Amino acid sequence: MAKDDKVLIFDTTLRDGEQAPGASMNSKEKLEIALALERLGVDIIEAGFPVVSKGDFDSVKNVAKHIKSSMICGLARSLKKDIDAAADAVKGAKRPRIHVFLATSKIHLEHKFKKKPEEILQIAVDAVKYARGKIDNIEFSPEDASRSEKSFLYKVLEAVIKAGATTVNIPDTVGYATPLEYGQLIVDIKNNVPNISKAIISTHCHDDLGLAVANSLAAVRNGARQVECTINGIGERAGNASMEEIVMALKTRSDFFGCSTGIVTKEIYRTSKMVSKATGFVVPPNKAIVGANAFRHESGIHQDGILKERTTYEIMSPEDVGVPAHGGLVLGKHSGRHAFKDRLKALGIDVFDAQIDIAFERFKNLADKKKQVFDEDLVAIVSDESKAFHQTWILKELLVTSGTNVAPQVKIVLESKDKSFSKESSGDGPVDACYKAIEAVTKCKAKLLEYGIQSVTQGKDALGEVTVKVSVDGKNVIGHGASTDIIEASAKAYLNAINKAIV
Ligand code: KIV
Ligand code: ZN
Repeated sequence: MAKDDKVLIFDTTLRDGEQAPGASMNSKEKLEIALALERLGVDIIEAGFPVVSKGDFDSVKNVAKHIKSSMICGLARSLKKDIDAAADAVKGAKRPRIHVFLATSKIHLEHKFKKKPEEILQIAVDAVKYARGKIDNIEFSPEDASRSEKSFLYKVLEAVIKAGATTVNIPDTVGYATPLEYGQLIVDIKNNVPNISKAIISTHCHDDLGLAVANSLAAVRNGARQVECTINGIGERAGNASMEEIVMALKTRSDFFGCSTGIVTKEIYRTSKMVSKATGFVVPPNKAIVGANAFRHESGIHQDGILKERTTYEIMSPEDVGVPAHGGLVLGKHSGRHAFKDRLKALGIDVFDAQIDIAFERFKNLADKKKQVFDEDLVAIVSDESKAFHQTWILKELLVTSGTNVAPQVKIVLESKDKSFSKESSGDGPVDACYKAIEAVTKCKAKLLEYGIQSVTQGKDALGEVTVKVSVDGKNVIGHGASTDIIEASAKAYLNAINKAIV
């Protein structure tokens, strides 16, 4: 493929993705995700909106310091203070970028800014010039571009490119466009903006009508060479274009698009899981590429076809996106420590020695309860144990009495700094009783906002993974816990959230 057929992947999970209601992530989680995005081969990481808060600023700075190969971008409105903050936050990056935006649609001009088009044009040009005075790599977004008057949009794009913008992004901010229209908009921009060859055209599509991926691909087909997207498609309202869908569509249908990306697709599944965990947003089972059912074949006819020749019903292989191989059976109760360690290594999980002992013991207990231990089980127990390793409070014992005509009662033993604390409690149900006991021991006033449970693999003996969102002192934190006993998993998740809040 020719050099200019490379499509740059601009990931905005840490910025637009975090704008999804309830998806806020802490600085540590953001750095872990940024490192995963780098492993994934993302070209540009939009790490945040630095002017918004000190937390955002510090987190962008932290990502900029640690990421070596991906470019790091900070978002800014067309205001000096925003641009100053973005420039300061990304300046430690090997390859920094500032992304400046300003709305250009009539609706925004009249209702948001109460300004005339000429004034907006001047503000955009001044902002790009100011940003360019700080950093060479500047992206400009005319917000709500898809609803802007085309003649005005062309004027703005020509002027900002002249002022120094190296990428021009065309946001479908409210997810209003359709693929034919949006593709045509890219063609029209190429034909009507005289200096367009001096900049890369980028897409940024929202999913309000479920068309974000289709619109982005229509833009690529018509000449856009940067796609803005997020892992699992998370983002403002209905979300952004989903990265895994864009990348796999370009790869699987390279015959149609004639383009490639630099994404290491085998890292997709792992990164999707990580983002789901950090945000507490569960991936629906039918989600393309990363959903639990994306590569499962239920119908007998399909299964028969797959056994005869995989390509009868599979257009991509699960291994290509890092989904654990079919069956995924890895270890049983006779497997030794060596095999356990080797398997973790193959899954790309680094566990230091002190943790291995605990994780191995946990695996043996699980293998006793469960006939088959899958890769997903290993990932769940190791992440559970590595959480426990750094926690102030650890669950040591849990005794639950509950039934149809019995008031739920629990006895819980927690450990902190080698001391044990126990508490008995009743509640509206066993989970409520557990949470009351945990609050009493930790002396933490927490409020449960959301509770969700998912099985890690299939079958009645599967590990249950509980995710909770808890508010502690006005701060929302996400907690996870896994166990074959769902009450224990619930207790661990709550404790994990409280531990995070304490930190
Ligand atoms: O949706 C949008 O328009 C944005 C811009 C800031 C690019 O997120
Ligand atoms: Zn957006």
